[in-house]
Amino acid sequence: MGEAEFDLVVRGGTLATAAEVFEADLGIRGGVIAAVGRGLGRGQEELSAKGMIVTPGGLDPHCHLEEMGQDGAVQEESFDTGSAAALAGGTTAFLCFLPQWKGHSLARSAPGYEARAQRSRADYSFHQIITDPTPEVLEREVPALVARGIRSLKVFLTYDPLRLTDAEFLLVLATARRLGCMVTVHCENFDAIGWRIAALLKAGRTDPLQHAWSRPPVVEREATHRAIALAELVDQPIQVFHVSCEDAAVEIARGRARGLKVWGETCPQYLTLSTEDLDRPDFAGAKAVCSPALREPAERERVWRRIQDGTLDVVSSDHCGFSFGTAKQAAGSSAYGTGAAVSRPDGRPAFNAIPNGVPGIETRLPVLFSEGVSKGRIDLPTFVRLSSANAARLFGLGGVKGSLMPGADADLVLWDPDAERTIRNADLHHAIDYTPWEGFAVKGWPAVTIRRGEVAARDGQVLAPPGSGRFLARGAAASALPTGRVPDGFDAAAV
Ligand code: URP
Ligand code: ZN
Ligand code: ZN
Repeated sequence: MGEAEFDLVVRGGTLATAAEVFEADLGIRGGVIAAVGRGLGRGQEELSAKGMIVTPGGLDPHCHLEEMGQDGAVQEESFDTGSAAALAGGTTAFLCFLPQWKGHSLARSAPGYEARAQRSRADYSFHQIITDPTPEVLEREVPALVARGIRSLKVFLTYDPLRLTDAEFLLVLATARRLGCMVTVHCENFDAIGWRIAALLKAGRTDPLQHAWSRPPVVEREATHRAIALAELVDQPIQVFHVSCEDAAVEIARGRARGLKVWGETCPQYLTLSTEDLDRPDFAGAKAVCSPALREPAERERVWRRIQDGTLDVVSSDHCGFSFGTAKQAAGSSAYGTGAAVSRPDGRPAFNAIPNGVPGIETRLPVLFSEGVSKGRIDLPTFVRLSSANAARLFGLGGVKGSLMPGADADLVLWDPDAERTIRNADLHHAIDYTPWEGFAVKGWPAVTIRRGEVAARDGQVLAPPGSGRFLARGAAASALPTGRVPDGFDAAAV
């Protein structure tokens, strides 16, 4: 027998790309896809994908790992555990967040964070959070980041220590346009939420369900509308993070209809959970506190419809490392809360001081596959676009991640479409003591995850060691380029 042509051949699977579904083998050499076709030559190793669906590895463009607060407290999920969970769930690369603290330069915020990220088992890159857009930050530090391949910024329009005023947001948008960065935005109206929280507390309403009452869809819709309008004024592309409701999605669709470059992300929690999860007894509703808040049960199908019509084109996890036994019951233990902590008679925090965010980096794709593909709401190419390809295109990783084209990183998931599982926290790899999907039944399971040509996880066993993930320096993305149009022709950002 002659020399092997490939390092690895994944043979006989049903391949699903962002565009189509077909039967073929995949030949991998040097960690990249070298050939796609039927009857490929021999590989040094061979993996049968008979009966399996082969998709690109997941790219989770929004997760919070080992994030450090201004007080030095670090979220419980480490790069080691978080990336193990990612791989076990079919995600081979992720984007997380470099923090900035008000009054601090980027360089002085969260020292050592990038070094800690080197423990990752999955490939990774960062969005830079901007909370204090000083001239030094915008004119010197952000350009230096872009030169290193960090080409996306995250801004918050809510949360006490993080949010930007509209004036500050405009400065960030203008800087991003100059540098060719994508801007991602957390859209909720800060003052409206503060006003509602004060009234709810005054009325003695403190339980976790009140989180939803403090920030109804209208506060998300208003901020989404405002973010899109200000981005239009500057002619800067934006992605609206974690869209929870139809009202906000409609604003995105309207912006697109006007020719704007605006994209929308949602998360499995908005597709599968609801206010019923916030209303669980014994403070268990805290497990479902995230922002924007979970909505009424009927809203979920409306969000699905906005996926089906293409308004929402990315599903991220927005994974957060707050355990129920610790952080979720410790008032004000995170910047992701709003307003002064008030203690309830049982010693637990009122709803507004519960850290916001749920863990989901491992369950993101199984839940999306099951609820989307297996239940017939979306087809396989849509699943690929939502889970990796669109994020790759938006964030400068096109042709590298989210693709089965020759030349792309050989990041693959072999899905067993018939496997039926029940999600149990005990089986997950994250460091968090619960999953909001405890007991959730899924059909379709990521049996094998391949990262750059190596089997990184198989049947829940993670094989890639800590430190084997690579930093992804990102190039310019066409999606981050301006349209060349401002509303009245006076281009204030160019002056
Ligand atoms: O509740 C959430 N989403 N927490 C994480 C921080 C954020 O807003 O993305
Ligand atoms: Zn957010
Ligand atoms: Zn987030």
